[in-house]
Amino acid sequence: MVIIMLGAPGAGKGTQAERICAEYSLPHISTGDIFRANIKGNTELGKEAKSYMDRGELVPDELTVRILKDRVSQDDCAKGYVLDGFPRTIPQAEALDEMLKSSGIAADHAIDVEVPDENIIRRMGGRRSCPSCGRIYHIEYAKPAKEGICDNCGTALVIRDDDRDETVRNRLSVYHEQTQPLIEYYKKSGILEEVDGTQSPDSVFEAVKKILG
Ligand code: AP5
Ligand code: MG
Repeated sequence: MVIIMLGAPGAGKGTQAERICAEYSLPHISTGDIFRANIKGNTELGKEAKSYMDRGELVPDELTVRILKDRVSQDDCAKGYVLDGFPRTIPQAEALDEMLKSSGIAADHAIDVEVPDENIIRRMGGRRSCPSCGRIYHIEYAKPAKEGICDNCGTALVIRDDDRDETVRNRLSVYHEQTQPLIEYYKKSGILEEVDGTQSPDSVFEAVKKILG
């Protein structure tokens, strides 16, 4: 099963992808997480990605597609995976289609988590995430049991570098310009499903489960 999570920055793609992966035992492939791990490890890829991410711009397609192909060719992806934050442009979607086609499969679901821009700004301000295992929290909507500490691995939670107000605004405008056209793309291919992302994380997940069956 190949599931694509679509939605604006902060819509809850990562939050829902985590839950889907736990429920259906699939690996969670987040290009953003891969880039952040490389930034943390101070790799060449990390240095290049950081220059775009800090400005809220997209990392170039060619580099992103290469990283994605490399990741999904690993053994744990043989039975499927959940894509969170990829594809983000039409060329990325075309590259994914081509890649899947060459393995004789097609994406099963593209789930668009819909949240208006006003809600996004509020959500991003309160996001905290675990730099070690990647689990996502919110100071109001998804609190850890102990303030500032990851429930899963005990690491101190951090604020993402690209969650500053002006960067969030740029990420939103980049989303509307470059990523939103994918909604039409997947509508045409017949696999688009929309869920109301303004509900609680539990209610959003119920809607997602109904789609996945
Ligand atoms: P990426 O890491 O993918 O960030 P993003 O798409 O901007 O999305 P976010 O991770 O910010 O939000 P999310 O939708 O996962 O929401 P979350 O669940 O955390 O990408 C970062 C950067 O990397 C990009 O800007 C780009 O530079 C680069 N990049 C990555 N992929 C790329 C690609 N394919 N091509 C080119 N460049 C790429 O939720 C947000 C907050 O809200 C959390 O605090 C959460 O707890 C809370 N929350 C979640 N759901 C709810 C709910 N239902 N109600 C209330 N609060 C909620
Ligand atoms: Mg995310």
